Amino acid sequence: MNLESLANREVLTQPFYEPGKPIEQVARELGLDPEAIIKLASNENPFGPSPKALAAARKALEHGELYPDGGCFELRQRLAAARALAPDQFVIGNGSNEIIELLGHAFLGRGDEVVMGAPAFVVYKLVTLLFGARAVEIPLREWRHDLPRIAAAVTPRTKLVYVCSPNNPTGTSNTEAELLEFARAMPDHVVTVFDEAYADFLEPAPDLRPLVAEGRKVVGLRTFSKIYGLASLRIGYGYASREMCALLNRVRQPFNVNAIAQAAAVAALEDHAFAAECARQNRAGLAQLERGCRDLGLEFVPSVANFMLVRVGDGMRVFEALQRRGIIVRPVKSYGLPEWIRITVGSGEQNARLLKEIGPLTSVGQRPRGP
Ligand SMILES: Cc1ncc(COP(=O)(O)O)c(C=O)c1O
Repeated sequence: MNLESLANREVLTQPFYEPGKPIEQVARELGLDPEAIIKLASNENPFGPSPKALAAARKALEHGELYPDGGCFELRQRLAAARALAPDQFVIGNGSNEIIELLGHAFLGRGDEVVMGAPAFVVYKLVTLLFGARAVEIPLREWRHDLPRIAAAVTPRTKLVYVCSPNNPTGTSNTEAELLEFARAMPDHVVTVFDEAYADFLEPAPDLRPLVAEGRKVVGLRTFSKIYGLASLRIGYGYASREMCALLNRVRQPFNVNAIAQAAAVAALEDHAFAAECARQNRAGLAQLERGCRDLGLEFVPSVANFMLVRVGDGMRVFEALQRRGIIVRPVKSYGLPEWIRITVGSGEQNARLLKEIGPLTSVGQRPRGP
């Protein structure tokens, strides 16, 4: 009997997720010096981890022989203080990605529906399909989540609704008033998930905690991968009602988050200066990329996150050409945007290098249709 015939149907039909390639892999494949490669592909922090987090992580490593605190006690205390919620209103995940999977475990089965924007973060769809549920994708409107159409797509079979703001891959956001109104109008059988992975770059970020206080079935997702520069450690969290967090905690692995990541996250939360400086640098970087694209005659989607969509003509070709020049960006063909690439905001120097290299690749004759 062949192995595949034993596997779950959803495993065999699961679409393949292609993450941004690591620098070392690109260096190996193209014979480049890894030191000379810059990665502007996965919305990581160009300034590295918070230095306080790095020190805490090193210290935690000294007790690498011990299992971590499976309940993430200290981190939940700190989050509670920072976000004015109770410690048991948090669920900590191996990246916020894991919480998306926990939501699948807790709520999804065959025949259920999950409503989401398109294009939006692809993991919502992957997890939906893995649990045998149906992904109902609602096209963005003027690059933003079309909240009225998403609401209209909810049926008695809908279990989860995902709203990603700021959205990946577009970098666009919905306002606090829009998000609150949307969640308040959701029927009682639906769990609304707000993915706020890039909210730390907004000033101010929408405050969705009133929805939790009102007892609504909402989950907010946050991550330490972006502004705190801890993507490698894999740590993120959800905040919600106590009942919701208890449910999500039931379906996670006992030691899902390692001790190094927990210690780093605790220290990162206290490093306000680092986060503020990264947000400032990111705003400057966005402005630099916008100016550069205008000068080159390239259309872009104005972004409030730490990345930007740029229309380059043939996205795959420009992605490959940049990669050969030691710059890794993200093609977004799989998001239905073959003419575009997604560029993570780098340091000023990295942005300047990208703009210099991208110019000739998109110049006369290859220039995409203008805005
Ligand atoms: C919108 C969005 N949500 C969630 C994540 C996952 O982040 P994490 O590293 O916390 O798993 C990402 C990662 O890029 C993202 O873009």
